[in-house]
Order: sequence, then C-alpha cells, then structure tokens
Amino acid sequence: VSSNAIGIGMIGCGTVGGGVAKLLHEQAALYAQRLGRPVDLRRVLVRDVAKACAGGLVQKDKLTADADAFFSTADMPIIVEVAGGRGVVSTYVRRALEAGKHVVTANKAMLAAEGPELFALARKHKVAIAFEASVAGGIPVITAMQFGLMANRIDALYGILNGTCNYILTEMTREGKSYATALAEAQAKGYAEADPTLDVSGKDAAQKLAVLASLAFGVSVNESDVWNEGIDSLDLADIRFAAELGYDIKLLAIAERTHRSEFGVPSSESGRDLPDSQLATRNSELGTSALSLRVHPSFIHASAPLAQVRGSFNALSVYGHAVGHTMSYGRGAGQMPTASAVVSDILNVASGWYPLACQAMHLLSDRQSRVQTVAANDLVSRFYIRMTALDVPGVMARVSDILGQSGISLSAILQHEANVGQFVPLVIVTHKARQGALLDALDQIEQLEVIDGKPVCIRIVDMPAE
Ligand code: NAP
Ligand code: HSE
Repeated sequence: VSSNAIGIGMIGCGTVGGGVAKLLHEQAALYAQRLGRPVDLRRVLVRDVAKACAGGLVQKDKLTADADAFFSTADMPIIVEVAGGRGVVSTYVRRALEAGKHVVTANKAMLAAEGPELFALARKHKVAIAFEASVAGGIPVITAMQFGLMANRIDALYGILNGTCNYILTEMTREGKSYATALAEAQAKGYAEADPTLDVSGKDAAQKLAVLASLAFGVSVNESDVWNEGIDSLDLADIRFAAELGYDIKLLAIAERTHRSEFGVPSSESGRDLPDSQLATRNSELGTSALSLRVHPSFIHASAPLAQVRGSFNALSVYGHAVGHTMSYGRGAGQMPTASAVVSDILNVASGWYPLACQAMHLLSDRQSRVQTVAANDLVSRFYIRMTALDVPGVMARVSDILGQSGISLSAILQHEANVGQFVPLVIVTHKARQGALLDALDQIEQLEVIDGKPVCIRIVDMPAE
C-alpha cells in the first residue's frame, strides 16, 4: 500500500459492507486516479469473524471482533458504519467522532433518532458525517437536497423510499404473487432490513423521510413526527380494484408544507367538523408552515411518473419554488447500488471538500427548531373505500346517508354483479374529505348489520402539476 493511502475502517460486513469491500478492491485504480491517492481498507469490525465476508473480499487478518483493537488501528481517519441499528453501533459512531474520525453511514434508523446530537458531536470534533446511502440507496438524493437544490424553498417531497415494499407491490400487481412470496424474494435479493418488519410497516421509509425533511425544511424532524401505515395489511383485492379504477398502489413518503386554507376550515364538501373556536386556536398554532409528514399506501394515477417506478427502484419528486418539479430515480436498495453511495461518500470525504461543507452548513443541526406537524386526522384527501356489503335493497342508501351526514361527497361507486343476498365488495371513491370525519363515518358504517368486517380505507394522492 502506498504511503499516502487514505485508511478506512469499516463496521459491519454484511450485504452493504460486502459491496463496499468489493468496490474498493475491484476499482482501486480508478479511485486512486480520481482521488490522487489510494484508498486502503485497513480494518473491519464484525461480531463473528468466521462468518463475515464469506466471499473472501476482506483478508482474514483485517477482520476483528475486538472494538478496542479496531479503534486503535493507526492511520484510519474515516470510519464506515454499515452494521445498522442503534445501541452499540451508535456508541461506535460516537467513539469514532470523539476520536476525530469522519463517519460514513448508511444508517437511517440512527440518524432519524439521534441525527442532531451526532452532528453536534461531529462539529465539536471538526469532523464530518456523510450519509448518502441512508436514503434511497444508490440515488444521490441527499447530495441533491443539500447542495443541488440549495437555492430553493422546498414546498413538497413525494418519494418511493423503500425498495422492499416497492418490490413486493410490483410483484403482487404485475405477477399476481402473494405478499409472503414477494417478501421472501426481496429478502433473498438483499433489499430488506435485517428485521423486514421495519420495511413492511413503513418505519424504514418514515426514518428516511425524517432525514430528508430535516434537510429540505431546515427543521428538526425525527421518526416519531412521521405518521405511518405499512403495506403489511394490504389485500390483493385492493390492488385489483386500483387497476380497475386507473390507479397503482405505492407506499409513498410525503412531506408537504400545509397552508391554513388547506385544512381545518369547516366546509360541507370536506366534512371538517371542529367548532370555529377550536379551529381558530389550532390554525394559529399551526400557522402557515406546519408540515404534513406521512408514509402510507397510496392510490396514484397510473399515468403519474411515480407509478412507473417498479421493483426495488426508488424515486423522489421534489417541488422547489424556483426549479419546480425535479425527480430522481434509481435503485433504492441492494448490495451494489448502496455500496455505490457509500464509496462515493468515502471519496467525497477523503477529497476534503465534504468535511468543509459539513462544518459550514450546520446540517441536521441541534440548533434547528422542532418541526410543527399537522395531525393525521386533519389531512384533507380523496379516499378509496372498500367494504363487504350484503347485496340487498337499501344498503347503498344507508351507506351514502352516513357519508352524506358527515359531509363526505362520493365521486365513484363500483360493485360487481352478484346474486341477491350475497356479501360482495362495494368500492367507493370520495371527493376531498377530512380524514377524521371519514374515519368517524366508517366506524358508523362498520356497525351496520349489512356490512361485514372493517371497511378498508386508502388515501388517493394527487401530486401537484409539473
Ligand atoms: P446486514 O446484511 O444484516 O449486515 C450487517 C452487518 O453488520 C453484518 O455483518 C453484521 O454482523 C454486522 N453487525 C451488526 N451489528 C454489529 C455490531 N454490533 N458490531 C459489529 N458488526 C455488527 O445489513 P445490510 O443490509 O448490509 O445493512 C447495513 C446498513 O445499511 C443498515 O443500516 C441498513 O439500513 C443500511 N442500508 C441497507 C441497504 C440494503 O439494500 N441492504 C440499503 C441502504 C441502506 P452479523 O452478521 O454477525 O450479525
Ligand atoms: N431495506 C431498505 C429498502 C434498504 O428496502 O429500501 C434501503 O434503505
């Protein structure tokens, strides 16, 4: 190894770590040429040396399960954290920062919960944290948000940010596969988290949205600020009805500035139901800069750009006040796309420009104010509703009466022919309504003896014009 090589230490050597080791090995000459000096992977910290990097990409003598031995390795100014999770891994990251080492991480769970503290620690010790791989795998969305769109006030983000969920939804929609089969395939392909419930519950996307929204809106956002619903209870029937109505179902991560006129004002069309006195208080608390932050299965029109995003691909639509709509697209999960983002971060840190920018810009700062969010029940949206109804005279009248009493207007109704007296799926699409009013109405509908089980309710997302 050349004497001017830059030394890297890596924590974790699973799917992503294996990809990083592979790139550093196979593209050593290219990176040395781009950087003007070679990159040397000096030490790798794992839990089980025998199991790590079975492909032989890391020489055995570089592997250690001893954290003290790892941190005492000489000439290792950059630590790459690709172990995931919090707990001991987060203590390793703090240890690295306190020792004056730059950190490159793919760990959105850690950043969404501890970002401001970690960045404060990094600033204190005059080092950088680079985190491109934490959101949208190989797509450089963090770089775009931090630098490329810096001139813009960001008004909204709409993202497909979880490759596992997008893969499952694509396979269910296009190939008619079951949820369980598609999930097992996503795991085998290395897209899923070690605990895949993080993916399918929407939590992984919520963590990514928290990181993106902090950067985009300059406020402190953590995972708990994001209201989320996963794809784990989605039914194949809803995927089929979506197609019949001209929509696709995607798990969308959404962050939007919400203005007073868009919520909380009583109107018969929206079914908004708070007394004026409470509305005035709430609206002044929310002001005009509250954010709606949410992750949920969404009906999007089949012709929308995000509907074309399939498999493990991710995409992020950003609406900036000057640029208008931009969309980034690429592989959002998997070994080599994620390793691409990690290694790019290593090179950016090693070149020296990123640490300077990181110090100057107060990214994910502990000095930012806490985000103000709009409550989920104040969301105003169109909705798809599916219920199982007894096919007898008067059922539709009773259902529409409850919705009408709640100020909810219907835009489409769909029921396939069946024998009188049977239970059949009844699908309703509403005009814009306040979520709280709609859920209250569905509670009443569920009580009707002609309705079987709990009605399904999925938001229809109409993205702004280009
Ligand atoms: P993985 O395949 O489960 O690999 C994790 C590795 O870290 C394993 O080698 C594991 O060792 C090791 N590890 C875990 N805890 C450790 C500890 N306390 N000390 C030392 N080593 C430890 O996970 P992955 O898919 O590579 O994901 C790694 C990180 O990248 C996560 O933060 C994930 O969210 C993020 N990420 C993943 C993807 C993707 O597509 N997979 C994409 C973007 C971001 P053992 O095997 O011995 O447990
Ligand atoms: N499990 C994540 C996903 C990996 O499926 O998107 C990328 O962060």
